[in-house]
Amino acid sequence: STGSNLSITVVGASGDLAKKKIFPALFALFYEDWLPENFIVFGYARTKMTDEELRNMISQTLTCRIDKRANCADKMDQFLKRCFYHSGLYNSEDHFLDLDSKLKEKEGGRVSNRLFYLSIPPNIFVDVVRCASLKASSNNGWTRVIVEKPFGRDSESSSELTRSLKQYLTEDQIFRIDHYLGKELVENLSVLRFSNLVFEPLWSRDYIRNVQVIFSEDFGTEGRGGYFDNYGIIRDIMQNHLVQILALFAMEPPVSLDAEDIRNEKVKVLRSMKPILLEDVVVGQYKGHSKGGRSHPAYIDDPTVPKGSLTPTFAAAALFIGNARWDGVPFLMKAGKALHTKRAEIRVQFRHVPGNLYKRNFGTDLDKATNELVLRVQPDEAIYLKINNKVPGLGMRLDRSDLNLLYSSRYPREIPDAYERLLLDAIEGERRLFIRSDELDAAWALFTPLLKEIENKNIAPELYPYGSRGPVGAHYLAARHNVRWGDLG
Ligand code: BG6
Repeated sequence: STGSNLSITVVGASGDLAKKKIFPALFALFYEDWLPENFIVFGYARTKMTDEELRNMISQTLTCRIDKRANCADKMDQFLKRCFYHSGLYNSEDHFLDLDSKLKEKEGGRVSNRLFYLSIPPNIFVDVVRCASLKASSNNGWTRVIVEKPFGRDSESSSELTRSLKQYLTEDQIFRIDHYLGKELVENLSVLRFSNLVFEPLWSRDYIRNVQVIFSEDFGTEGRGGYFDNYGIIRDIMQNHLVQILALFAMEPPVSLDAEDIRNEKVKVLRSMKPILLEDVVVGQYKGHSKGGRSHPAYIDDPTVPKGSLTPTFAAAALFIGNARWDGVPFLMKAGKALHTKRAEIRVQFRHVPGNLYKRNFGTDLDKATNELVLRVQPDEAIYLKINNKVPGLGMRLDRSDLNLLYSSRYPREIPDAYERLLLDAIEGERRLFIRSDELDAAWALFTPLLKEIENKNIAPELYPYGSRGPVGAHYLAARHNVRWGDLG
């Protein structure tokens, strides 16, 4: 509401995420007039820094929307003037009390809402939440805390973290981010499905043969090996980003668009997932590779990765949902680092047309004739549908063509970063795109037994060359379920 203050404290202000994502997202929101009139931003970290030094640091990464470069410098100045810095320890209640006095001074006695963004390693989450909630909560408005994964590394540690956080905060105050939910195409998934008659009735085992959720990056764990080795690709990408997409894709229609209604359905579908079988999983790890004069190191060459690490940098899995809508439909997931391309997409392969009159035009391979709907989450956001079409001419030749909705041509405006959407939602108290604790529990319940099995059995990852298409095992896995990966043609 106008008149009240908003104070945003970025804890871990000198970290990578803060610099690359959070400050730029806050600036973008300010730039587009989404922030309340009275807002201030505080950076909090251990490093000693002046306000000026913080401003210099963050000014390096602020950018303006392409279509509005004109008054950019001005806007940056105005934004930076609202940014301040407080140096303190992460476990010192006194230091958060000092922050509180600084906040109060700037808030000038008005009603003040306070948002804390925890951009810090998980081992200090609880300390910061304790200090911030006890010493720097708002006393006349709301206090909310945004946390980033990892939320534990299995069911037990995740519940433990939830229990600890709940000593200081209510579930309503905790905003667990999964930044994939803030991506435009992921948000659009429900719109596409529930508001189009040409899709909604098809969304079940009756018409859909398989669904593929694919994530690939064309770089390794460069510099993040220390963090990554403790988690691996299943925890880093599958258990959260890909499973969230799957839940949104497969959930039953929610009663309404309210956050609780949507999250109830997501929990329900996650709880309907069958246990993941080890035989339905392929794990891989990249090895060194040189190509065109450039050589890329293996995962285990990273000095921060322990020798002989078996941590997967690639995984593919077939998952099944044991409910009436999806019984028997394979949901294939694939996530990998150091692959040939950077891409995230959702692919829906439909069944064959019964009694297809044009069968002979496809030779023996009817798979070539199935419709496929693709949502390309990034890069080059797009939705396209592969259909069969007659090639113009006197003969009867068919080919597969795309009905193609390419965002860059249909919507030339730049697409906001996921963090802009999510920060704005947290400020407005919209919880739809944040992970509720029971959702988190359900996602861990799905992956914990598998992770334990992989670790207890010391399953060795299949090696694949840096920059390749990943282990061939992923093809065999798909083939066993009568699936061909759509991204590999
Ligand atoms: C993070 C993972 O959650 O997502 C990273 O920890 C990964 O390993 C990143 O690189 C990918 O996000 P985006 O938005 O760049 O696709």
